[in-house]
Amino acid sequence: MCGIIGFTGHKNCVPHLLDALSSLEYRGYDSAGIAYSTDEGIRIIKTSGKIEALKNKIKDYETAHCNISGDCGIGHTRWATHGEPSDVNSHPHRVRDLTLVHNGIIENYAELKESLAAKGYTFLSETDTEIAAAQISLRYSETSDPIKALHKAAEDIRGSFAFGVIFDDYPHKIYAIRRDSPLVAAAADGCGMIASDITAILPHTRKYFPIPENAALVIDGDEIFFFDRFGRELDIPEEEVTWSTEDARRGGYPHFMLKEIFEEPHALRETFASKMVGNLPAINSKILSSRIGTIHIAACGTAMHAGLFAKHYIEKLAKIPVTVNIASEFRYCDPLLDGEDIVLLISQSGETADTLASLRLAKSREIRTLSLVNVAGSAIARESDEVIYTCAGPEIAVASTKAYIVQCASLYLLALDLALKRGMISAESAEKMCSSFVRDICSGISSVFDYSVTEKIDKAAEYISARRHVFYIGRGIDSHLCTEGSLKLKEISYIHSEAYAAGEMKHGTISLIEDGVPVIAIITEISTAEKMISGIREVKSRGGYVIAFVSEEIADKFEIPYDEVVSIPCPSTHAHLPIMTALQLMAYKCAVKLGLDPDKPRNLAKSVTVE
Ligand code: F6R
Repeated sequence: MCGIIGFTGHKNCVPHLLDALSSLEYRGYDSAGIAYSTDEGIRIIKTSGKIEALKNKIKDYETAHCNISGDCGIGHTRWATHGEPSDVNSHPHRVRDLTLVHNGIIENYAELKESLAAKGYTFLSETDTEIAAAQISLRYSETSDPIKALHKAAEDIRGSFAFGVIFDDYPHKIYAIRRDSPLVAAAADGCGMIASDITAILPHTRKYFPIPENAALVIDGDEIFFFDRFGRELDIPEEEVTWSTEDARRGGYPHFMLKEIFEEPHALRETFASKMVGNLPAINSKILSSRIGTIHIAACGTAMHAGLFAKHYIEKLAKIPVTVNIASEFRYCDPLLDGEDIVLLISQSGETADTLASLRLAKSREIRTLSLVNVAGSAIARESDEVIYTCAGPEIAVASTKAYIVQCASLYLLALDLALKRGMISAESAEKMCSSFVRDICSGISSVFDYSVTEKIDKAAEYISARRHVFYIGRGIDSHLCTEGSLKLKEISYIHSEAYAAGEMKHGTISLIEDGVPVIAIITEISTAEKMISGIREVKSRGGYVIAFVSEEIADKFEIPYDEVVSIPCPSTHAHLPIMTALQLMAYKCAVKLGLDPDKPRNLAKSVTVE
């Protein structure tokens, strides 16, 4: 999604803006631009395309005119929502006496546009951002005060936004305001900055100010002042990022995605350290200790798939009913929520708009909210009644890998914790289950990286990357792994794939099986292995090419009619997450074999802060 950056106080902010924009590239974007103050006024350079194109445009400008420098500037990477990716639609946008960058969506832009046009405003682009800039300019003309103008315009605007603004009257100061879109402020080395993503400020400082919802701020050199909508100054405590700059780099791996897959055992250990005491689960939550009716999970994409994993274990171990909801549906479906129910939000970024909206819906219905989030201080973390952190460390690649593994592991511990608290299992069995889970999944995932397994994954990727359609089949919890494995493959390799509960194939989809169509069959459950094998036979008799992902135990016990097998050295009970790691690695290898960049898949963004 779009990225915002702003620097003031440096002799020349332009190189800092460009470096910071490059560090936001992973979020996905289609245009980039900067604006900075000069003796002749604000200069804007922007273009559709990549940051390289912006750098070339800057070089051309330098050749034709003079070296670019300015002590105050803002920059943006745009992911088109209103209007195609083009130079004119790129940010920054300038309207009369101010220049602005924006993340988010202005829902009532058409209404605002009409009323602004009636007041004599004209527009160059098709963007909602230019309308927002004009609305702030209108309010500035009425108040002559940038902070008041930002607050008044924020009241006029419906939707989500983080704005970074330079007013012509204050060319050395950056103003900002946010609602529902991420933005932080920071100060270091005599310089002040704003960024939509902490990663962009890490080279300068690890300390930052989270900007409260609807608060406006001004940065003057390295001084930052925050104001609420009544104009009262706010005292915002500084926070510190616990991630190191190195964490946010690739560390020698060709892609972030591969690095993040290899980080899974470490991320799991961090998560276990924060959620266990001795060998027992210890989730710090008052909500989980109270009476609970139904747990409603709301999340998107991969995080929602982690919710499916959670449902399996919470219902099985703690005997609490769980519904798993796609957040973008949950918020509009008028869900049946009872006073004793809880809503559990799962989100890596903690900023996903639909998940945030589901959280707010639950709160408006006075339902208790608990979130499982990776990014500290994110909107979902701040607004939930309680938050549990997943401790996965920064996830930079767009496709979620280690965050999913750590979400599932945290949710397994949560299920055990609930079972223990409700007296469904004894402390002794909880201890046994917990320690075998920790031991098996850490060693199981590490064993996926052994050559004997990766060579099999590579062979499977070779076959799949040459095909256009793939099916994933499994039963029970394995069918949920199929859903996530299939998403991983399609999002980064652009190969069409579908996940099916194996028993459903014969009710329709099997008609698509013909010679050579790859079918990935996941088997970890001894109780349903025979049924899976009959399903595989049906596929094979229609010419399907079966690649089985199984635990070693299943491979030893059953005769599976596969064409290829990836067998994971891990006890069946806990083979699910190691198999998921193998599926992630296979998707990664497919993308690389097809010459695609797995870190930045087309049309996708890391943090989906618009609906
Ligand atoms: C897929 C992926 C997405 C996210 C989804 C929710 O690999 O990463 O499906 O899982 O956009 O994002 P978060 O977890 O940040 O709420």
